[in-house]
Amino acid sequence: MNNNSLQFYEAFASKYDVMLSNERYQKIIPFCKKIFDENKVKSILDCACGTGKHAIAFAQLGFRVEGCDLSSEMVQRAKTNAVTSGVTTNFVQADFKKLPEVFNRKFDCIVCIGNSLTHELEEQGVSTALKSMCKVLVEEGVVIVQIRNIPKLIRDNTRIFPVRHQKETNGELNLFFYVLDF
Ligand SMILES: C[S@@+](CC[C@H](N)C(=O)[O-])C[C@H]1O[C@@H](n2cnc3c(N)ncnc32)[C@H](O)[C@@H]1O
Repeated sequence: MNNNSLQFYEAFASKYDVMLSNERYQKIIPFCKKIFDENKVKSILDCACGTGKHAIAFAQLGFRVEGCDLSSEMVQRAKTNAVTSGVTTNFVQADFKKLPEVFNRKFDCIVCIGNSLTHELEEQGVSTALKSMCKVLVEEGVVIVQIRNIPKLIRDNTRIFPVRHQKETNGELNLFFYVLDF
């Protein structure tokens, strides 16, 4: 991930959960759960966990979950969300290209969801990340990578998304405009 993107996540970690709709969890969680069950997955590493919402949902379904993210602010927010949700999921700061440096155990499944792998802009970075994930994966384990269907967005000319708003307890109003620059 380049420095601009990292700075974005560091700055917006506290707003990330209100910036994005909760609807996106309604499809991906059951989709992953089906794959976990089909492959007898017990332990999961969410290697770009962001604010931890997916990892927490998996933990609430009874899986053993750990989460990591390159952004320290996102990791901090994930820890806070875990406490609020009453789960004991462990979240640490780590680069998904260097997972074996941080995790000395292996997982039945690695998830990298929410369009996170696309922060690697070069083929070499993607390849390093996938190899790193495989190094902390059990033999015949499962890797789930989810990326946005950008060609479809371009085809459909989807550039402007609905404005979202959220009021802080101090009365401050946050408005989120989401525009894709093709
Ligand atoms: C769009 S967010 C998705 C977060 C979360 N998976 C979700 O769906 O809400 C992308 C995340 O990838 C993380 N990320 C990007 N490059 C990373 C890397 N090399 N190692 C770990 N995390 C990374 C960012 O810090 C950010 O939290």
